[in-house]
Amino acid sequence: MVGSVGPANLEGRPMPLIEWADSVKTGVPEIDQQHRQLFALVNDLYDKNVAGVAEPSVAETLTALTEYVDYHFTCEEELLAVCGYEDLQNHKAEHRKLMEQVVFYEKSHRQHPETFDMDDFLGFLQFWLRSHILQSDMAYVPSIARSGRPVES
Ligand SMILES: [Fe+2]
Ligand SMILES: [Fe+2]
Repeated sequence: MVGSVGPANLEGRPMPLIEWADSVKTGVPEIDQQHRQLFALVNDLYDKNVAGVAEPSVAETLTALTEYVDYHFTCEEELLAVCGYEDLQNHKAEHRKLMEQVVFYEKSHRQHPETFDMDDFLGFLQFWLRSHILQSDMAYVPSIARSGRPVES
């Protein structure tokens, strides 16, 4: 659920927007660690939104998130190139498209924070993180395993 008032857990604290679960674990240690960091940044943004935290704190998290998405995509693409992933070009194209959208949101927030639709952005992040990891990232795991790199089950 994305909204100004989020669901609460048993302790009465707001639940994270996007929870880490085994279903999103690729088994590639450095990738999972980066995905966890992405989840943490999205949840941080969500928490600040729910708590009504003022600028420039929201802008800082948004910028950190944008930079981390870029960093993660670069790391992932380098790893896939080293492992000879056959669908790398399509994967890169998907990353580029997502990056363009994240940059667009970040820029519009920077220019017009007062009219920025944070719920829309959080919904977008929640959707693409899950669907990209579950479909596109999971698809490269056999290639990484074949290259001899450690993949946890
Ligand atoms: Fe990816
Ligand atoms: Fe990824």
